[in-house]
Amino acid sequence: MIDSMAIKITKAGRSKLNEINFDKLPFGKYFTDHMLEADCENGEWKSVEIKPYQPLLVDPSLAALHYGQSIFEGIKAYKNKNGDAFIFRPLENFKRFNISAERMEMPMIPEEIFIEGMRQLISIDKNWIPAKEDYALYIRPLMFASDTAIGVRPSEKYKFLILLSPTGPYYSAPMRIYVEEKFTRAAPGGVGFAKNAGNYGASMHATAIAKKQGYDQVLWTDAFEHKWMQEVGTMNVFFIFGTTAITPPLDEGTILEGVTRDSAITILREMGMEVEERKISIDELTEKYKAGKLSEVFGVGTAATIAPIKELRYKDFVMRFDTDTWEIAPGLKKILTDIKEGKRLDNHGWMFKV
Ligand code: COI
Repeated sequence: MIDSMAIKITKAGRSKLNEINFDKLPFGKYFTDHMLEADCENGEWKSVEIKPYQPLLVDPSLAALHYGQSIFEGIKAYKNKNGDAFIFRPLENFKRFNISAERMEMPMIPEEIFIEGMRQLISIDKNWIPAKEDYALYIRPLMFASDTAIGVRPSEKYKFLILLSPTGPYYSAPMRIYVEEKFTRAAPGGVGFAKNAGNYGASMHATAIAKKQGYDQVLWTDAFEHKWMQEVGTMNVFFIFGTTAITPPLDEGTILEGVTRDSAITILREMGMEVEERKISIDELTEKYKAGKLSEVFGVGTAATIAPIKELRYKDFVMRFDTDTWEIAPGLKKILTDIKEGKRLDNHGWMFKV
């Protein structure tokens, strides 16, 4: 076990903070002055260090590059009006990181490194947290196989990093979505529930094809019938029928257990909605749409928070939504944002003080 005292800290000689225009922060483009780096060898974590943000020296035989043993997380930190920094539900991401690690046959990371390391890193780069609505400090923990050998086997060495990126909204406008029927994101027994790098790499081809046709993302369907809803782009998805919200269930292992998904379920219930975690098919969606009962569809995730969908295309059938008239997604977003920015009481203990 490594306690907080064991983290070696080397400060950057010069800050890049003044070189960044905080009014224009594309997602994931800029990084703060420091990063955390830790190494694991034969299951033992050592050399935990916060140091100036810098490139890594990578051997061409690095195992992660060849076989994709690589996982990550996405978390956000905010500042309240007194300037105090808070991280949104980092313990949930810590637990999920180790679930992903287990699936990818990688070592567990101790809480002392993941949470305490993150806390100390953010405390050093606290001035990088944007104080603007819809803006945040995006936290990217990642771990990859760092053996320099190309045998196909779990690595003996792993590197863990935490990067911080001040960032603006992920999507600036409601999305147009294509219901995917050819390519698959996840199948039972696969890695859909894990946040491993390959899930995102493998999604890019289908997304690129949809983008060429003018869509922002695809709505992933099941691997067998391509009719059961899974996720939208890199987000969990919610459908609103009147006072009922429906989101696909986690039991098949094909869906990432989103922290924003869980927060949305809690808040929607507090807003008086019925929330059902259940299978939902494209046939049910189109029928409900035709009957005027499908009122809202949106994605939820750390990066995008709540992302409304204005158009959903299935084969030649197009479902259109007037997102300006919606009440549920904007209401949910407002409550979530207010909790994160310290404008609303944090009844659930979701905000972790830095
Ligand atoms: C997140 O919402 O944190 C995600 O995982 C999306 C990300 C890959 C940009």
